[in-house]
Amino acid sequence: MEQLYKKGIKNLKSSLEMGDLSISALWTVIGLPISLLSVLYFALNRRKNVVLQDKVVFITGASSGLGEALAEAFYFCGCKVVIAGRNAEKLEELRNRLESKKQDHHHSALVCILDLEDDDLGEKVQQAVTKVWGRVDILINNAGMSYRGAVAETKSEVDKKLMVVNHFGHIEITKAILPYMVKQNSGHIVCISSVQGKLPIPHRSAYAASKHAMQAYFDSLRAEVDHQGIQVCVVSPYYIRTNLSVNALSADGSTYGKLDQTTMKGYDPHFVAQRVVKCVQQRQDELILAPFYVRVAICLRVLAPWLYFKIMASRARKELGINNKKK
Ligand SMILES: NC(=O)c1ccc[n+]([C@@H]2O[C@H](COP(=O)([O-])OP(=O)(O)OC[C@H]3O[C@@H](n4cnc5c(N)ncnc54)[C@H](OP(=O)(O)O)[C@@H]3O)[C@@H](O)[C@H]2O)c1
Repeated sequence: MEQLYKKGIKNLKSSLEMGDLSISALWTVIGLPISLLSVLYFALNRRKNVVLQDKVVFITGASSGLGEALAEAFYFCGCKVVIAGRNAEKLEELRNRLESKKQDHHHSALVCILDLEDDDLGEKVQQAVTKVWGRVDILINNAGMSYRGAVAETKSEVDKKLMVVNHFGHIEITKAILPYMVKQNSGHIVCISSVQGKLPIPHRSAYAASKHAMQAYFDSLRAEVDHQGIQVCVVSPYYIRTNLSVNALSADGSTYGKLDQTTMKGYDPHFVAQRVVKCVQQRQDELILAPFYVRVAICLRVLAPWLYFKIMASRARKELGINNKKK
């Protein structure tokens, strides 16, 4: 195989030198590796779809936005949903709404009050789990908060809060639920990260860092628990039409309070929720839900980092309203 590939490169070089680009040389160098990778992908990913009926799903940040849409999506698939969050009133409202449309194959929904900044987060989760169904099949680490600001002006408390809410809190919850999954020899952990976990942009440092940390941590966990029948999926969506920017923190710790244009034009949270359901059903390891040019930028960050850094520096200057030239 290696020899065939080397021969292909040699043919490609000589045909380029002769000014005559041969199709067979191009096929060996580009088409063949892509075809082989595709065959390998389908061979390694031939697994049965997960049946969602009666599965226990624990969803954090279910009081609004994507979490609320996820709760609806899994509930109507016949799952036993635990809707977790800080706002008891909103969660009760959601539970009543779900149960008002209950059919024979639907279950009751359970409200679990928790704050990702709680010191006894793990205990609270375990109590909620053991109290009712005694198992969790699918954990969705969805709760999160965003941030807007320049590094130089941002209070350290803000950086730390973002890491606790978007990263350490999910670690605590995962560690509390993991023993149940290990005992069951099955389970699915979904982490709602962001495209910004792969592609940091200026004035979002704390948010991008927390999502980047989440991606790395759960990529490690995926490998560790694979032999125990536990699936880990990191979801990296582009903008979603929710109140994330309204609830975001500013550099001084105050609430940003604005609905950004980008968020306003984002994906419908119900569309994203359906894609997450599909991800679980199909046991996917990763979902990048973003337009084509964003996917290209993710590749650019890896293949030509210098170019990506230039584009981001230019974006930062533009955001600050300064002349787009380096001193
Ligand atoms: N919207 C986007 O453009 C976008 C893009 C990519 C990724 N995401 C990710 O999607 C996830 C859901 O966000 P969203 O867009 O649906 O925004 P959202 O409407 O603001 O929802 C955020 C959820 O997280 C909860 N939360 C925040 N801090 C918490 C804490 N300390 N303890 C417990 N719960 C807490 C909120 O609960 P309360 O009601 O108690 O505040 C709320 O339910 C987040 O992880 C976000 O990073 C969003």
